[in-house]
Amino acid sequence: MITLEELNALPPPQFVAALSGIFERSPWVPERVARARPFSSVLTLHAAMCDAVDIASIDEQLALIRAHPELAGRAAIRGELTPESTREQQGAGLAECSPEEFARLQQLNGLYTQKFGFPFVLAVKGHNRASVISALERRVTNTIEHERTVALREIGRIAGFRLAEAVDEPLGSRIIAMAEQLALISERQDALVCSYLTAAHRATAALIRDWMLGAGLQVEMDAVGNVIGHWFGTAGSAPTLLTGSHYDTVIDAGKFDGRLGILLPIAVAAHLRATGVRLPYALTIIGFSEEEGVRFKSTFLGSRALAGQFDPAILDSVDADGISLRETMRAAGLDPAAIPSAALTPRNLLGFVEVHIEQGPVLLNESAPLGVVTSIAGSVRSLVSITGLAGHAGTVPMPLRRDAAVAAAELVLAVEKCCGGKPGLVGTVGQLQVPSGAMNVIPGRCDLSVDIRADSDEVRDAAFAAVLSESKRIATRRNVEIQWRKVLDVGCVPCAPKLQQLWAASIGRVTGAPEVRRLPSGAGHDAMVMAGITDMGMLFVRCGNGGISHHPSETLSVDDADLAARAFKDFLLNFPVPS
Ligand code: GLV
Ligand code: MN
Ligand code: MN
Repeated sequence: MITLEELNALPPPQFVAALSGIFERSPWVPERVARARPFSSVLTLHAAMCDAVDIASIDEQLALIRAHPELAGRAAIRGELTPESTREQQGAGLAECSPEEFARLQQLNGLYTQKFGFPFVLAVKGHNRASVISALERRVTNTIEHERTVALREIGRIAGFRLAEAVDEPLGSRIIAMAEQLALISERQDALVCSYLTAAHRATAALIRDWMLGAGLQVEMDAVGNVIGHWFGTAGSAPTLLTGSHYDTVIDAGKFDGRLGILLPIAVAAHLRATGVRLPYALTIIGFSEEEGVRFKSTFLGSRALAGQFDPAILDSVDADGISLRETMRAAGLDPAAIPSAALTPRNLLGFVEVHIEQGPVLLNESAPLGVVTSIAGSVRSLVSITGLAGHAGTVPMPLRRDAAVAAAELVLAVEKCCGGKPGLVGTVGQLQVPSGAMNVIPGRCDLSVDIRADSDEVRDAAFAAVLSESKRIATRRNVEIQWRKVLDVGCVPCAPKLQQLWAASIGRVTGAPEVRRLPSGAGHDAMVMAGITDMGMLFVRCGNGGISHHPSETLSVDDADLAARAFKDFLLNFPVPS
């Protein structure tokens, strides 16, 4: 492997030579990006090379496609492939075709080449013979323009896999670059939004899948859209350590909430595999599809499915456009009936660990880059609907009004009052709307959300009860109806002492600090659901900018990402496997 730093410093001819295998027999691609150095990460180098292909002439693009060998074609049999292509085709099992499979591939390859005038190109990582054949069957029906785009996209993916294997870079830069790239995929132009099963969400899942494949993991997508990468241990029946976090986001999100806990383990697994390490246990990295509850107001869809706690009644929830969760899943090719079979069996699990940014200022203020989470606060979330009476803003005297928005204003203040004054207790009204409101109409309806959390279930329940009784008083006094619907009720979850100890030891070793900061999490995490089936532990990583999160100015430094990756690596290498 060459390092990115070395590549950045090479004279242009050597730079081109070092990357000659990345785009099949097409040195003009590295040639055209040599002057854009230095690249800050392998991903920016990859993006520059893909851009060079995108803006090349159609003849050059066709020549690039034609530089590729047929899959399992005659060149493979004659041993005329580049070393990269030979390895990739063997990886998909194409070297062991049955006579029937070989005949079918030859026939389809023939049809394909005759129709398009170039060979069928597919990034075969993650494929097997059957899926290669079905991809070929599908793609041979495309139009030529579309197929040229698909072939170039596949060539870009192949180049990404090859670069990841050929070029090394510091873990911290790799992690930040991945987070930056994922953040480019959004439902909105002006903000990062990635909510459950939108086009952006599915594209995000596809990119995470590619990075897992590039790290050498075996990847599956389950019935709720979790992207799951397996790194099997030295023994087939070895127990499994789970890790992961969510890839969905809030509206106008930061780049690291959730994603860090997927990308960091991928980078570390790739690094360990590249250095020849084999773990004595299996490591499973999970990109949970949904945690934030943005689209269907139901949180933890991904982890609940894996923990066997998915409530099928949730399938009837609808999004803002009235589309049900069930319909949404079906349209995305997911089978709601298969959700129960996504549940993991707790047998043979070593635990679930999650790496997450702290999303608060504690570590930052204490100059501690990493911390061990002691427990995750419980929360109760409700959707509240207030119904009063709409009327003319100019004609109804103030004492006669049944104004839903004014009742809501009182309720917001009641939440603040009931949840103030106790450390660890917090209450938030994060959504507040007058549906179909107008400037000259008294609000007849107001909808709001109430989220109450504490690190003690007793304290949280008492605060919730106090808010409910305030709500009743407001309803009576203002002659409005206030309906509450609880959408989440999870208790406070302690982290397993054994895992806290292991994290503390790893942090101590990589930072050299005599004392390791332990702190509770006020934010909810997939880990609290996974705690239902196995031991759970969390590593917090300091974020910058005052610790702000659920906001675009959320930050994480390259150095802190690197340190967290080293702590995670140390944790994996020292994880005790019961004999
Ligand atoms: C998850 O981000 C939460 O709301 O705590
Ligand atoms: Mn979040
Ligand atoms: Mn999160």
